[in-house]
Amino acid sequence: MSVPATDWKEVVPPDEDARFIGYAEKLQAMQHRRARARAPEKPDRALHAKPNLHALAEFSVLPDLPAHARVGLFAEPASYHAYVRFSNGQGVRQPDRMPDVRGIGIKLLGVPGTKLIPGMQDATTQDFLLIKSASTPFRNADEFVAFVLAGENQALFVPRAIAALGFVRTWQILRGIVPGLAERVRSLATTRYYQPVPSQLGLYAVHFGLWPHASNAPNRARDKRGSSREYLGEELAERLREGPVSYDFRLQHFRDEQRTPIEDASIEWTEAVAPSLTVARLTLPQQDVNNARGRQLSSFVENLSFDPFHTRQDMRPLGNMMRARNHAYRLSTTARGASPEPSGAQPLHDIEKTTT
Ligand code: HEM
Repeated sequence: MSVPATDWKEVVPPDEDARFIGYAEKLQAMQHRRARARAPEKPDRALHAKPNLHALAEFSVLPDLPAHARVGLFAEPASYHAYVRFSNGQGVRQPDRMPDVRGIGIKLLGVPGTKLIPGMQDATTQDFLLIKSASTPFRNADEFVAFVLAGENQALFVPRAIAALGFVRTWQILRGIVPGLAERVRSLATTRYYQPVPSQLGLYAVHFGLWPHASNAPNRARDKRGSSREYLGEELAERLREGPVSYDFRLQHFRDEQRTPIEDASIEWTEAVAPSLTVARLTLPQQDVNNARGRQLSSFVENLSFDPFHTRQDMRPLGNMMRARNHAYRLSTTARGASPEPSGAQPLHDIEKTTT
């Protein structure tokens, strides 16, 4: 691959920040309304409320990367302990067979370097958040938030979306979103995840991807679709009881504004234009997520926050959708009283601290 371009740029309208703060407040108000409806429970996440599974993981940066990948976190081969949280995308907990976004949050421990979020600059953690689609049907946060808010009331969803975005755009978005949501997932171990919006990587701009390692073979005997409300987590838990599950962590580099846009999240950065490169391996080692230790880990990880802006400064999130996220996650985690960042590089040590 030729050396990737470095002439990417963000275009930030002057009124944007106030609008994005307003979106974050609206999402938080929805989060509170849902919590009140289930009283006396404390609020769930405003989005991705339902976890499928929490696990311990290892994230290993590979050696011998090309110069354009050997940047920031990927500059040197290194291994980090990590927590992962697999989730469904809705702000309500529904059965896994329902159409939904699927996501994964990854929190690395012991990562050096100053972080972005004020007050968390010295934290030694670093987050990645990915979903099951390589692009979003939404061009920007205006469209994303309009759809999410319209979806709070299923019966009024379509008229509300049309009122916000117009008939043509609503129809285009629905046409883009439905096939991906409706696709039945066999296993989280054989699902590809993407960060379909950009982040800086030193001089470059990149998308992240997480592709199942070839060793995570589909297993029909294990296929639990339809048999259980929680089949996604149960299937992965079964695999982990028997052995590790691994994914390749990949980078796609910005080429040009037309084919790999920074501000428009609806354009896929295709493999033909921006071939992805494996730079690290995420391995969930063999573990029992249902024994006493696994359950302890699960409630610890559930109360953490995963935030795209909680990252090294040389990996700043870019583009419209990302700038909107810079407000939304902070308000959601405040509303639900998320735990502070774990300290240290050893995961089990953190958990012991909270239980002694
Ligand atoms: C297309 C890019 C996006 C991706 C890949 C993504 C991914 C995720 C994932 C994986 C989670 C769950 C994290 C966890 O397990 O704790 C999450 C949560 C969340 N997302 Fe996004 N998301 C995207 C866009 C957005 C946008 C545009 C907004 C709003 C402007 C948003 C608002 C939220 C909120 C409020 C939460 C819950 C935060 C918490 O309480 O911890 N997301 N997202």
